[in-house]
Amino acid sequence: MQIYLDSASLEDVKAAHDLGILDGVTTNPTLIAKERVDYTRRLAEICAVCKGPVSAEVIATEFAGMMREGEAHAKIAPNIVVKLPSTVEGLKACKAMSDKGIRTNLTLCFQALQALMVAKAGAFLVSPFIGRLDDVGEDGMELIRTIRKVYDNYGMKTKVLAASIRHTNHLLHCAIAGADVATCPLKVIQECMKHPLTDQGIERFLADYKKAFG
Ligand code: G3P
Repeated sequence: MQIYLDSASLEDVKAAHDLGILDGVTTNPTLIAKERVDYTRRLAEICAVCKGPVSAEVIATEFAGMMREGEAHAKIAPNIVVKLPSTVEGLKACKAMSDKGIRTNLTLCFQALQALMVAKAGAFLVSPFIGRLDDVGEDGMELIRTIRKVYDNYGMKTKVLAASIRHTNHLLHCAIAGADVATCPLKVIQECMKHPLTDQGIERFLADYKKAFG
């Protein structure tokens, strides 16, 4: 499973990149608003660090505006992927951009039929939001499993990018469910390498070694 960082912080991108396992980055309007920086400039900075797909979301909600913004984002760097909402207008923009060779990430996916439609329109990625479904009492992971099944039934090439990941248990179950990619905050990526028994083990090894050799 590929791992993307879900952040617009350059510091986070550099830290994740330094781990050597970073496959891409996703951003969104909320994440960029937290940074209070120019979106275009920040996307260029992120693309200079991470050579994998970097998702850049449009603000427009209608087709013409999505095309305008998406085409401008796509000019920033060759690894930009235009992030569009999973709406009727987003579907149209997805098809038009795919026809022009611009890769897209269809975001805010909350039902498998959205994923089926955007795959038909040539989406490169689809982003089902696990955490937000869990927040309203639904089962986010079930959506990942269902999309995986639908895509496999028809050999659809769109990659399932599990988003809105809040903890390592989400990440583990995405891998079990066969998500192609999971995008997570830096903290979740770092948490993957933490376990109290690992820490205790290191302590004991060091103590034993010190006792024997001083
Ligand atoms: O990038 C979109 C997604 O990962 C948002 O996550 O935690 O705001 O639901 P969250």
